[in-house]
Amino acid sequence: MISMSASVTRLTHYTKAERDEITGGAVDPSRVAATGLTWLDKDVHFGIKLLGRLVAHAGLVQVPLSVGAVRLQVAGLGGVIVAPGLRGQGLARLVATAAMEHAHGLGIERGLLFCWPDLIPLYERLGWQVLPDDVLVQQPDGPVRMPLRAMWTPLVDGAEWPAGQARLLSLPMWGAADRPSKGAVRATATPAQRRGGSCRPGSR
Ligand SMILES: CC(C)(COP(=O)(O)OP(=O)(O)OC[C@H]1O[C@@H](n2cnc3c(N)ncnc32)[C@H](O)[C@@H]1OP(=O)(O)O)[C@@H](O)C(=O)NCCC(=O)NCCS
Repeated sequence: MISMSASVTRLTHYTKAERDEITGGAVDPSRVAATGLTWLDKDVHFGIKLLGRLVAHAGLVQVPLSVGAVRLQVAGLGGVIVAPGLRGQGLARLVATAAMEHAHGLGIERGLLFCWPDLIPLYERLGWQVLPDDVLVQQPDGPVRMPLRAMWTPLVDGAEWPAGQARLLSLPMWGAADRPSKGAVRATATPAQRRGGSCRPGSR
């Protein structure tokens, strides 16, 4: 298995060019556009290079969250992606684990991610748990219900997820849009997706 010989390094930057290096130029490889949401860039990046080519990435950004009356800082995981020909060999596990170990080193006690339902079993294998309720996230026009499933993972022994409505007090982290940029990026949805695709806020 490739993951036994691969090592994760911290990347100095991660733009569309690096993502294209991983995917071979796939458009919207993480299916971001379907949400129509505005996303927060990650600010720490981990990658795996094989024979000089970037083949996997995971990004991390600290985000503020309230759950009921509790305020938390969580490690937002996003941009997890592996080169198509190298999937199923443990590379996502390696980069995602490196990102969460980094967050643990910063003293953060919980990780949070958003994903489409078909990826829940994968993240469960990596120790993540589905949050039972929807999460509210910030958008330029105010809070909206996140259409993706939210999952969390403890980064320290004994960490628990508080009861109550979770509200991300920032834009959500996840994938990246198809342009090289820093800061907030606007993903575009097709008119059909906006009209009634299965991924509008509130749907599963
Ligand atoms: C999702 C993605 C990153 C997974 O990468 P990968 O390198 O194939 O994943 P890994 O091989 O590290 O798999 C991690 C674990 O999940 C398991 N797994 C993988 N796919 C699974 C599935 N569909 N159901 C259940 N478990 C699964 C693997 O067996 C592995 O568990 P193990 O280490 O205990 O055997 C990759 O398919 C990808 O780049 N997809 C496109 C981009 C994307 O959708 N990113 C996710 C955004 S949330």
